[in-house]
Amino acid sequence: MTRHPLVLRGREFPIPVVLAPMAGVTNIPFRAQCRTFGPGLIYVSEMVMAAALVHGNEKTKKMVAFGPDEDFRSLQIYGSDPDFVGRAVRALCEQDIADHIDMNFGCPATKVTRKGGGAAVPVKRNLTRAIMAAAVKAAEPFGVPITCKFRIGINDDITTFLDTGKAAEDEGIAMIALHARTAEQHYAGHAHWERIAELKQAVTSIPVLGNGDIWEAHDAITMMNETGCDGVVVGRGCLGKPWLFRDLVDAFSGREVQQSPNLGFVLDVMIEHAEGLMAIMGPEYGIRNFRKHCGWYLTGFPVGSDVRRSFSSVATFDELKDIAARLDHSMRLVDGGERFARGHTNGPIKVVLPEGYLENRDDLTVPADASDTAISGG
Ligand SMILES: Cc1cc2nc3c(=O)[nH]c(=O)nc-3n(C[C@H](O)[C@H](O)[C@H](O)COP(=O)(O)O)c2cc1C
Repeated sequence: MTRHPLVLRGREFPIPVVLAPMAGVTNIPFRAQCRTFGPGLIYVSEMVMAAALVHGNEKTKKMVAFGPDEDFRSLQIYGSDPDFVGRAVRALCEQDIADHIDMNFGCPATKVTRKGGGAAVPVKRNLTRAIMAAAVKAAEPFGVPITCKFRIGINDDITTFLDTGKAAEDEGIAMIALHARTAEQHYAGHAHWERIAELKQAVTSIPVLGNGDIWEAHDAITMMNETGCDGVVVGRGCLGKPWLFRDLVDAFSGREVQQSPNLGFVLDVMIEHAEGLMAIMGPEYGIRNFRKHCGWYLTGFPVGSDVRRSFSSVATFDELKDIAARLDHSMRLVDGGERFARGHTNGPIKVVLPEGYLENRDDLTVPADASDTAISGG
């Protein structure tokens, strides 16, 4: 099986690792933390709605911003109307906002799938192709590559990933990534890596990336070996653990992966991350936004519930530093703490589709979520 190098916009990424787009997480400060540990990888932004890009508002403008030192700007968009998607991609390219645009076809949220959007879109084969084609056509004159990320399908009976992969190949998509779960699975259970292997067998002309359950660097190597995929996309494993990207670079470079850091190291990273959020969101909202990250950073450290509670209600930067200063900086993770799950683990869910949705899988009706400007997830 041929391994494809990851090349986007003429740039080769020798370490085949991509930060998964995560709504509410993969903003400028988070990407900066990750890049500090793993320079030269692909770090994807939070998802932005195509409709919001077309209409243009202040929140969207902030979400599509990149830091001055981001030398490769990867942005994820979501859209289910080929027209909106084409217009959004053209606007992004004309304004030179991104070097690479990823499209999300995997959002399992009920409020989206019940309108035929998100993870329901790939069920409609021609619509999926039309969305891909519109994005590629708009981006082509600017040399901006379009990539796609999708799930296995709706459930074990309605799988779409092979059709979607083939469509991507035909429509000029530069690279695809499979989150190896169905929408029904949501985030529960294990990712089905064997589906990544199937996709890699079926799609031969563009890179196929695997996504799901990479908690430690060696998981990425195992996924590549077991599935033959061309690279990996890392989501929850790096929540509260941006040094996972250093470990991944080490593992892919054949170097020994460092021991997990002690609490003192983690607290220093936390303080830097909080500072970054405050710098772009303002001190009050920045620190509030940081609260969710605290639980992730402390995962596996036996700090006790009182400490966790005080972090999760921290109100000022001084308070954050005070709590951090009072802890035992030499503390280490409990055994197996590296693999404790972070972020979503919920599921399975009942996937709600529009009435009669499965009856004609070739129709091109644009889903009723096409003009929504605020959904998130994948
Ligand atoms: C908090 C959170 C937000 C997410 N937001 C998005 C998103 O906006 N777009 C997307 O394609 N996937 C999104 N995902 C899914 C991840 O990109 C990834 O596919 C999923 O978490 C599985 O990979 P993992 O096991 O490495 O976490 C999100 C996941 C989490 C945990």
